[in-house]
Amino acid sequence: METGIRHTHLLTVILFLLIYLIKTALLLLNKNEALANFTKKVKVPEMIISTLFLATGIYMITQVPEIKSLLIIKIIAVLVSIPLAIIGFKKGNKALAVIALLLLITAYGLAEMSKKQKSKSMETITETVVDGKAIYNASCITCHGEDGKLALMGAKDLTQTQMDLNAKIEIIKTGKNAMTPFAGMLNDEQIHAVAEYVESLKK
Ligand code: HEC
Repeated sequence: METGIRHTHLLTVILFLLIYLIKTALLLLNKNEALANFTKKVKVPEMIISTLFLATGIYMITQVPEIKSLLIIKIIAVLVSIPLAIIGFKKGNKALAVIALLLLITAYGLAEMSKKQKSKSMETITETVVDGKAIYNASCITCHGEDGKLALMGAKDLTQTQMDLNAKIEIIKTGKNAMTPFAGMLNDEQIHAVAEYVESLKK
């Protein structure tokens, strides 16, 4: 659903860009009659495209907060370009028409950029995801066993522990007797995640 909306959004920007390109080209070539004809023909499609562009853009702002600022700049760029283009093409003002086209190209560039930024922010999320179970299996099973019951070297059965989450975090950080302190080896987030995993071992 979301990718469908993103693709529709990008498509509306591309269609917009194509229409502007053709109009600007006709204007710059002084083909006024052709321009008037073309403008008339694309009037309704253009209205549909801009509505779709706005609707998909606003939907994306609510769904993908990481790219909000880019989207807002993009929407403003397009919104500003529309009246500029209308005046530019109507009055045959080439400078205005070109400015409107440049704004749209910027909007298209931003759409491409927001796509990249989105996938980048997804990557960072997966990179920093801390998997309590994986950390437990790597650092704790030697003494506590896979199910927490092993209790090697005087370790307690983790499924029976009365410690609350904070006390667990504390003992994982500082260690106790035979238990290694993990403060230097795991960061706070990882310690929190593994402590929560230990909570889940409790039957
Ligand atoms: C070298 C062995 C060893 C390793 C590795 C180890 N522990 Fe321990 N753990 C112990 C021992 C021994 C105790 C009991 C300490 C005491 O009270 O004397 C203990 C106690 C605990 C307790 C407190 C249980 C209670 O009710 O008193 C928790 C929670 C705990 N470990 C979690 C972990 C986690 C999570 C890891 C991995 C990040 C881990 N331990 C790795 C040996 C180990």
